[in-house]
Amino acid sequence: MSALRCSVCSAPLHPDGRSLRCVRRHSFDLAKQGYVNLLRAGVDAGTADTSEMAAARADFLATGRYAPLVDVLARVVEASGEPEFVVDAGAGTGYYLAGVLDRVASAWGLALDVSAPALRRAAKAHPRIGAVVWNLWEPWPVADGVADVVLDVFAPRNTAEFHRVLRPGGLLAVATPGAGHLRELVTELGLLDIAGDKTDRIAESLGDHFEPVDVDTASHTAELDADEVRKLVLMGPNAHHLHRGGLGAKLDALTGATEVTFEFDVSVLRRKE
Ligand SMILES: C[S@@+](CC[C@H](N)C(=O)[O-])C[C@H]1O[C@@H](n2cnc3c(N)ncnc32)[C@H](O)[C@@H]1O
Ligand SMILES: [Zn+2]
Repeated sequence: MSALRCSVCSAPLHPDGRSLRCVRRHSFDLAKQGYVNLLRAGVDAGTADTSEMAAARADFLATGRYAPLVDVLARVVEASGEPEFVVDAGAGTGYYLAGVLDRVASAWGLALDVSAPALRRAAKAHPRIGAVVWNLWEPWPVADGVADVVLDVFAPRNTAEFHRVLRPGGLLAVATPGAGHLRELVTELGLLDIAGDKTDRIAESLGDHFEPVDVDTASHTAELDADEVRKLVLMGPNAHHLHRGGLGAKLDALTGATEVTFEFDVSVLRRKE
């Protein structure tokens, strides 16, 4: 709570019954599901994950297939010293932030995401998570220099705000899909090419504000049953394109197991002064 700022006037926010309020009496309702919406304006349709995508994401992540990425992120947070506050930008259902907080008992976490259905889940994912609906492209409703670590897992990157909310010397971890991520499904199902920016491109784009510390890659393969493949596809951007190339029909027709490659790159950067 002490890290949050009013999205109208930037004053600190305080709990007041079922809302958060600043000294100028700007007020934001706490949803009964445990998150707060600080947005003042709407966001473009199609930006936020839908409740179907959030449900598919929660179900798929519960299989543990992406657990190696939690390990990498937790190691980054542990390496930051004795972290007290971790911000997850585009936290989705809170899976990664909750996994990190399980490992780092000293820290509290803030989940920022524009998707209310995803944040309902994030708010319940861990007792030390606070969840705020926000558009990452706007200045964040977060005080200067309060975060020990910012996580960004497959989410939009706002360099200026990463820098502003991090303390001096704080760490930024940017996770992106590696070159081989889900390559079997890209071939067999014709998925959108989900490969993220190359890590040198990420370091370059953040270079004015951050110096690169490390790039960690985690990769493994697993046999997925048809139901897991469906969830994996429906939790991401392909969910918006089920008619393209008959993707929906291909998913319906799936039976048996598919070998799938998972590959994650995590760029670790340190905030420059
Ligand atoms: C691919 S998902 C990743 C979610 C989570 N980090 C994970 O890996 O499970 C991208 C997330 O970014 C969120 N998102 C997209 N654009 C956003 C924006 N402008 N502001 C805030 N969140 C945004 C979506 O709602 C979604 O939860
Ligand atoms: Zn205010």
